[in-house]
Amino acid sequence: MIRILSKGPEQTAQIGATTAAFLRGGCAVALIGELGAGKTVFVQGIASQLGYTGTVTSPTFTLVHQYDTNPVIFHLDCFRLRSPRDFASVGIEEYQRPDSVLIVEWADLIADYVDQWCWRVQFEYGADALGDRVIRIDRIGQHDNPTVERNLLEALKSLGVQIL
Ligand SMILES: Nc1ncnc2c1ncn2[C@@H]1O[C@H](COP(=O)(O)OP(=O)(O)OP(=O)(O)O)[C@@H](O)[C@H]1O
Ligand SMILES: [Mg+2]
Repeated sequence: MIRILSKGPEQTAQIGATTAAFLRGGCAVALIGELGAGKTVFVQGIASQLGYTGTVTSPTFTLVHQYDTNPVIFHLDCFRLRSPRDFASVGIEEYQRPDSVLIVEWADLIADYVDQWCWRVQFEYGADALGDRVIRIDRIGQHDNPTVERNLLEALKSLGVQIL
């Protein structure tokens, strides 16, 4: 488990950019947190690190955005999904490909429909300053290398963010 403090949107984007190096094709990233907690800002950091130069927004109404990065990112937002029938209609298999990365906002709503989660990232509002966010990152699922989370922590430390 990694817990870090982000002091503003730039830092959250940097944390995303640092995490990008740890994403492999076939991986799914679960983003969990309240409205405005910083999920999309985190995805912006990942996408730009992987070579995307356009704008990244929450696909709240369109459900999915595709970024032609390397690897390709499918960015989902499940906020508007309400019922198991909605979840089933997403066709999540379509976006879980061996050569692309799936990143899902409000992932708790479809947790059971994805079988290859690699990372879970939780965002909470901090108690002190308005721009504070506590970000918790966990390596999840049945995956190869137990040192990966430790390597990510080292990379985040060298960013200079506060480790909690
Ligand atoms: N430390 C921080 N990290 C990220 N965003 C921050 C931070 N401090 C302030 N903000 C602001 O909070 C907002 C986060 O918005 P963002 O769209 O990333 O949230 P979200 O979690 O994706 O919400 P939604 O569920 O509505 O999609 C932005 O306006 C950003 O400028
Ligand atoms: Mg969002």
